[in-house]
Amino acid sequence: MKKIIKSVNSCESLKELEAIRVSLFGKKGYFAAEFAKMKSLSDEERKDFAQNLNRDKEDFLTLLNNKKLELEAEAIAYEMKKDGVDVTLFNKDSNAGAIHPVMDTMDKIIEYFVAMNFSIEEGPLVEDDFHNFEALNLPKYHPARDMQDTFYFEDGMLLRTHTSPVQIRTMLKQKPPIRMICPGAVFRRDYDLTHTPMFHQVEGLVVEEAGKVSFANLKFILEDFLKYMFGDVQVRFRPSFFPFTEPSTEVDISCIFCKGEGCRVCSHTGWLEVLGSGYVDPNVFKAVGYENVSGYAFGLGVERFAMLLHKIPDLRSLFEGDLRLLEQFR
Ligand code: DAH
Repeated sequence: MKKIIKSVNSCESLKELEAIRVSLFGKKGYFAAEFAKMKSLSDEERKDFAQNLNRDKEDFLTLLNNKKLELEAEAIAYEMKKDGVDVTLFNKDSNAGAIHPVMDTMDKIIEYFVAMNFSIEEGPLVEDDFHNFEALNLPKYHPARDMQDTFYFEDGMLLRTHTSPVQIRTMLKQKPPIRMICPGAVFRRDYDLTHTPMFHQVEGLVVEEAGKVSFANLKFILEDFLKYMFGDVQVRFRPSFFPFTEPSTEVDISCIFCKGEGCRVCSHTGWLEVLGSGYVDPNVFKAVGYENVSGYAFGLGVERFAMLLHKIPDLRSLFEGDLRLLEQFR
């Protein structure tokens, strides 16, 4: 008996254990032989004998079962260790990802305006003529539509050429005051050093009761924003034209490469154009049914900001997924 108990305890595999089980409980095993002995016993003896044997049988079953569970757990642990991956191990060759410079720049822009209490609005990428052009004071056949090389669908819908339609959508949905930005992708038929068919813009719109917002507010916020993005730069407002603003202005910063002295990047002007903005044209308010309000709007290209911030010479490289470029942003 003791020998068997010892052999169960020292048993190292399920196979070994099964052999012991057969030697005990098999047809030709220990218990079968013992029970056979009962035939030759008197009634009196038989009772005691059977009781003892049954108790032994019970004990062995428990012993075998416990050992079986133990060996099974060991086997599972072994398999897991053999095939498993230790995710906590440091791998010096790991290819950890990084935030794409365009999204990183976008986040920084959003961060500024959220801190300035602007809400974030969104709109569809597939737009209709009304929101993308008409309501923004760009009537059909208006020459200003030439500024936008548009991807049209056969049914007259189009891929939005700017984030400005979200101004319209927000004004139609909400009552003034409005203080919003819209970050998002836009599309134009363009492809060269500084243009890709898809790029990102951030649009801004502030609308208040008439007289409560002035050009000074616009100047302050954009100047403050550009200093937040580019550090200690000079900011200048230059008269320009956009159909949806009147007056309109383009905003330049002093060249961050030559500090305004003139270089190739700034075409030797000392200035870099970074934003379009202006006072919202009354026709835009008319299109959304707003009365007695005034406001300002602005729009910028996120890739342009990313290129300037990271000194990236070719815009197209931002969309090629070349690891040699992307790995520099880890
Ligand atoms: N939508 C213009 C563009 O795509 C950018 C722009 C300019 C937006 C002036 C504005 C604005 O809101 O006031 O080129």
